[in-house]
Amino acid sequence: MIINNKKFKLLLQASEINSVVEEVAERMNSSLKNENPLFLVVLNGAFMFAADLMKKITIDCELSFIKVSSYEGTSSTSSLKQILGLEENIEGRTIVIIEDIIDTGFTIETIINQLQQKKPAAIQIATLLYKPDAFCKKFSVDYIAKSVPNEFLVGYGLDYNGRGRNLAAIYIADK
Ligand code: IMP
Ligand code: MG
Repeated sequence: MIINNKKFKLLLQASEINSVVEEVAERMNSSLKNENPLFLVVLNGAFMFAADLMKKITIDCELSFIKVSSYEGTSSTSSLKQILGLEENIEGRTIVIIEDIIDTGFTIETIINQLQQKKPAAIQIATLLYKPDAFCKKFSVDYIAKSVPNEFLVGYGLDYNGRGRNLAAIYIADK
């Protein structure tokens, strides 16, 4: 299939995504049972994962949304990124960051560092997709729905130049 003039092929169909999301939800329902966690969904990419995941979460919890500012152009560095939209007081709370994909790990590391300054009790990380061959950070990822090859992916919230977020399946760049 062609998205914005680039070729992609199917990687994960909707039913496969549903079952890996289900597995993450089950783990969370048992390990976060007594934590009243605050789930922080990283927009835009994680919106679809978060919506499906949260429908499967049965424990007492809260849910909010953040964005990471991105600087257009070539001079941007991850350390300059800021978290936008966090209004909750997170001091003493168990935070679970919900991400669409962890690639190098820079984005999540920036988020973790900024959240740490607000003194939460704990920060956990949940990601739909994880690229082990691209990851170059030290922190551990608590919940990974699916590890994927180090190629560009699109669909189920992930975009390619703004396109493809609406797709129910996940597609991989086809060379
Ligand atoms: P990282 O900072 O390198 O871990 O990249 C994380 C962010 O880059 C994700 O939150 C996505 O927004 C974006 N990203 C990384 N890999 C892909 C991909 O394969 N498709 C779409 N977006 C991606
Ligand atoms: Mg993202």
